[in-house]
Amino acid sequence: MSSTWGEKVKISIFGGSHTAAIGVVIDGLPAGETIDMDAVYAQMARRAPGQDKTATTRRESDTPQILSGLLDGVLTGAPLCAVIENTSQHSKDYSGLKITPRPGHADYTAYVRYNGANDIRGGGHFSGRLTACLVFAGAVCRQILARKGIEIGAHVYSIGSCKDTPLDAVEVSTQQLRSLASRYFPTLSPEAEAQMRALIEEKRMAQDSIGGVVECAVTGMPAGIGNPMFGGIENVLAHILFGIPAVKGVEFGDGFDVAQASGSENNDAFYYDSEGRVKTRTNHSGGILGGITTGMPLVFRAAFKPTPSISRQQDTVNLVTGENAELSIVGRHDPCVVPRAVPVVEAAAAIALLDLLS
Ligand SMILES: Cc1cc2nc3c(=O)[nH]c(=O)nc-3n(C[C@H](O)[C@H](O)[C@H](O)COP(=O)(O)O)c2cc1C
Repeated sequence: MSSTWGEKVKISIFGGSHTAAIGVVIDGLPAGETIDMDAVYAQMARRAPGQDKTATTRRESDTPQILSGLLDGVLTGAPLCAVIENTSQHSKDYSGLKITPRPGHADYTAYVRYNGANDIRGGGHFSGRLTACLVFAGAVCRQILARKGIEIGAHVYSIGSCKDTPLDAVEVSTQQLRSLASRYFPTLSPEAEAQMRALIEEKRMAQDSIGGVVECAVTGMPAGIGNPMFGGIENVLAHILFGIPAVKGVEFGDGFDVAQASGSENNDAFYYDSEGRVKTRTNHSGGILGGITTGMPLVFRAAFKPTPSISRQQDTVNLVTGENAELSIVGRHDPCVVPRAVPVVEAAAAIALLDLLS
């Protein structure tokens, strides 16, 4: 398994959806930093299941238990280890899936990769539940970043064809990001949120699911962070973002749209602001040139596929009999993973940026 990530700030995630607990060990955090656990709990609560009809009905409190690395609220410099108990498992819902794998999930590929020894219960180590560990690690890292003036926030940019107002890549403010990063189902437009919720409900009632896009921005990143070629900001962020289950695309700045722009439209003209700092009038680059930060806000988007586990009947195969088969999935699943994935994207960005800045 490849569940360890990072160069200087290194995370290692363990557990499965239906094991006793899941958890994370974070190595390389700066000693002496104070960690506000209430702020950590607030981030965990944004991702926790069972919040409303847009999410799975599985209920977990997702309270992290700190085993080491934090003493009297201060990072000791030793590896920070947190475990999150699994308390609401319905393992029998998954008993047949090793033989008849779910289309769109990792059941078949994990079966082949691990010769059938993989833990199938709740998707095992491939479950979206493991993202609770990312959110914990991110909640710690973002507090350290905030003390350096770096703020991260994201919103539900789209669900299916319903779109929110995009973030302004030049004017996005720390205050706006703080507000987004405190909400479940954050959108800039309340009308967009209502339409998105209605679409998710329509899909849920039709025993189906839907995907969408999370847009994230970071303010306060100094210019000059990152490396060329394989060590760029895009490389590092994409690497961790693709570790989030169901992410199928990542784009920076104007992303794929740049392919239709001309140079005169796409180039971000430089100027000195009133305090003598180099700025750009537009931010098509998403704050990154040559893999290195420009000092403008970082802006990127992550596309999530529709939840694979849908309750309507689907075609699959029976790996024991070697025959084609039909599958009706029982169990509790998110009709759309995107609202719960918003804090996960922010957390991944926080871990990656602290690693780059360490
Ligand atoms: C927050 C979150 C929640 C998820 N919830 C579910 C779920 O309830 N049911 C499901 O089938 N997949 C869910 N997924 C997605 C699967 O874990 C993912 O599609 C699967 O592991 C296959 O990996 P891949 O889509 O990256 O190829 C969730 C993903 C995230 C990020």
